[in-house]
Amino acid sequence: MKVLVATEKPFAAAAVNGIKAEIEATGNQLVLLEKYTDKSQLLDAVKDADAMIVRSDKVTPEVLDAAKKLKIVVRAGAGFDSIDTAYAKTKGVVVENTPGQNSNAVAELVFGLLVYAVRNFYNGKSGVELKGKKLGILAFGNVGRNVARVAKGFGMDVYAYDAYCPKAAIEEAGVHAVDSQNELFKNCDVVSLHIPATSETKESINYAQVNMMEKGGILINTARKEVINEPELIKLLSDREDLKYITDIKPDADAEFAKFEGRYFSTPKKMGAQTAEANINAGIAAAKQINAFFKDGCTKFQVNK
Ligand code: 3PG
Repeated sequence: MKVLVATEKPFAAAAVNGIKAEIEATGNQLVLLEKYTDKSQLLDAVKDADAMIVRSDKVTPEVLDAAKKLKIVVRAGAGFDSIDTAYAKTKGVVVENTPGQNSNAVAELVFGLLVYAVRNFYNGKSGVELKGKKLGILAFGNVGRNVARVAKGFGMDVYAYDAYCPKAAIEEAGVHAVDSQNELFKNCDVVSLHIPATSETKESINYAQVNMMEKGGILINTARKEVINEPELIKLLSDREDLKYITDIKPDADAEFAKFEGRYFSTPKKMGAQTAEANINAGIAAAKQINAFFKDGCTKFQVNK
C-alpha cells in the first residue's frame, strides 16, 4: 500500500521520520509531497495513493476523483473543514482526524499572542497584565481545555461557553460556565475562539457580538478565519478604537485590518500547531490510524460516517 503524506506546510523532520517508521513497520510505503506550490502536484501525487495524511491541505472533489485507489484520508489535526467529507463518503473514502494531538501547541500560541497584545506589541508603551483579567473561551473542546489550564497559571478568571458541552463538564474543569455566547462577550476582557468552521459558525462572530465587549476588549482567533464576519469586524474596529483583534489565521481582508495599527496582528502563516511535539503527536497518530484501518478495518476516528 502507498501512503502519501501531502503537506503544503510541512511537519517537523522528526515527525516525518516517525510517520515513516510507523508506516514501513507494516510493510507499506511512504511517499512524501511537501511544500507543494501547485494543485497539479497534489493531483499527480494522489493518483496511486491508497491512503493519505494531510494537514490543512484542501481535499476537494477534484483531488478525490484523481485518487482512484484512495481508501482513507487522515487529517493530522483537529479541523477537517478543508476536506470535502460528504464527497469522500460518496466515493467510499473514510475521512478521519486526530483530535487532541496538537491542541496544547495551539493553546500555548494563544498566550504568546495575548501577551504580545496586552504589552502593546512590545512598542515600549506601558501595557496591562493578564492576572485577574476575565478570559472567555468559546468552545470547550481539546484546545479550549488547554487554554483554560494555561490561563489559570497566569491567574486569569476563566469562563467558557460551548453549545455542545454541558455546563457541568465545564464547571468540573474549574471554569465558570456561562449560559450563552453573548454572555461570554459581555463578561470577558478577552475572548478566545475555539469553534470549528461549520455552516452554523461561519461568519458568526460579527459586529453585534464583538461590540458586547467592554472597553479595551481583545478578540483572539486561533480557530478559523471563516468564523469571522470580516466586513463587520472591520467596521467595528473603525467605530471602536479601544478593541484589538489578534489572529493566527490571516484574514482575507488582511490589508484592511492592517490599517488598525497597534490593534491588529496576524501571524504570516498559521502557526498554532506548528511545533515538533504537535507534529509528532498528530503525524504518528495519523500513521497509526492508517495502519489500524488496513489491519483491522478500524474506523474509530472517522468523521464522515
Ligand atoms: C487543526 O485544525 O488541527 C489546526 O488548525 C492546525 O492546522 P494545521 O495542521 O494546518 O497547522
